[in-house]
Amino acid sequence: MLTKYQIQGGKPLHGSITISGAKNAAVAIIPAALLVDGVCRIENIPQISDVSLLLQILQELGAEVRTVNRTTVDIDCSHIRNRQVPYDLARKIRASYYLVGALLGRFGWAEVPLPGGCDLGGRPIDQHVKGFVAMGAEVDVRNGLICAKIPNGRVAGGQVYLDMVTVGATMNIMLAGTLAEGMTVIENAAKEPHVVDLANFLNSMGANIMGAGTDVIKIRGVKRLRGGCYSIIPDQIEAGTYMAAVAAAGGEVLIQNVIPKHLECITAKLVEMGVEVEELDDAVRVKRTGMINRANVKTMPYPGFPTDMQSQIAAVLCIAAGTSVLTEGIFDSRYRYVDELRRMGAHIQVDGKVAVIEGISSLTGAPVHACDLRAGAAMVIAGLAAQGTTEIDGIHHIERGYENLVGKLSGVGADIREITVEDGELQTHVG
Ligand code: EPU
Repeated sequence: MLTKYQIQGGKPLHGSITISGAKNAAVAIIPAALLVDGVCRIENIPQISDVSLLLQILQELGAEVRTVNRTTVDIDCSHIRNRQVPYDLARKIRASYYLVGALLGRFGWAEVPLPGGCDLGGRPIDQHVKGFVAMGAEVDVRNGLICAKIPNGRVAGGQVYLDMVTVGATMNIMLAGTLAEGMTVIENAAKEPHVVDLANFLNSMGANIMGAGTDVIKIRGVKRLRGGCYSIIPDQIEAGTYMAAVAAAGGEVLIQNVIPKHLECITAKLVEMGVEVEELDDAVRVKRTGMINRANVKTMPYPGFPTDMQSQIAAVLCIAAGTSVLTEGIFDSRYRYVDELRRMGAHIQVDGKVAVIEGISSLTGAPVHACDLRAGAAMVIAGLAAQGTTEIDGIHHIERGYENLVGKLSGVGADIREITVEDGELQTHVG
């Protein structure tokens, strides 16, 4: 049985969409609960499969996880009894690497399966390891596991200068350093909103972390974290994805529950492309009536244009007036979706980290594949803008990071539905 999204394109979007909690904050904050002695109430949790997997992993480790309501969970890791992270669950997601920092910080010992996640070319974890080693750990990889151990049981502080700006290593070192014996300093740290959110979560539970959001983060180790309540920030990339969807399909949508400051890098580019964006206190109004202008886009660490929006903006530039140049500044290979956009008539040439997009007047619907999470979002955007029917398979990738995408887009007038196909036959339609 195969589930796909089916989109009849060419319908402008009108109404409002409410943004969920940030995936890349949630997937670090949930493992961070391992460091807390007591109950953490986490609010604004997105309902996505990466989050369910991490909650399941914590439960397998012995955490008590109680669903309070649709977006709130209570997690109590006071009585962790098992430290074997289930292999099959952990290797499905990238964020399982945060279990290393969290378990090392709490127990001085971690064995975690090497992470999975989107295939974006090589995704080494050498900077995470460099950080753990600087903090006194012995680390090696064997039998598919990252094995990290502190000989005397408690992480010592350490000084780490990251060779490149990495979100994952910055947050993992922060996790390992929270309960350390001394001070940890991360230089050339990532400044993404979710880095700040993790620091705020940990500080609200009693940690002493300074400088998150700048390129030097100082973590003074504390003896214990106590329970508390924390609400995750809204998802910058989910909001940016719907902004791009309005740009591509046309119309006017109020995107609610956002932090407009986090969206500035996306807003600035859309405005350059001829889209109207009005910033309100906790919402942005996005409107596109005329043509899309060509633009050059280079992805960079925050506050630059995010790599996680690269494919979605590419889908919009496919129908821009003129030729655009897209440069991927973070990952080796993030253009696997280009072949799928070509099926819809897009004119794109890729050479290494650069894609040249020659705008055409309209895309045409086609059967396409979501090869990763953001690539899948790009297919949805292209499908909304295209003439005719687009069917997208591989939607489990999209569900890893977008809560109720079909419902949110249907709510603003998109003709998108989930269909289930068995043995090549269309079987049922789900709203
Ligand atoms: N890098 C290394 N060594 C390391 C770590 C990173 O060489 O030890 C390199 C990477 O290969 C990449 C660059 O440094 O070229 C940046 O990688 P980063 O560590 O920032 O990425 P990540 O932790 O693997 C997270 C998000 C990604 C997002 C990137 C960049 C999670 C679970 N994943 O990945 O999210 O693209 O940061 O912002 O938080 C997504 O949401 O679609 C997604 C892929």
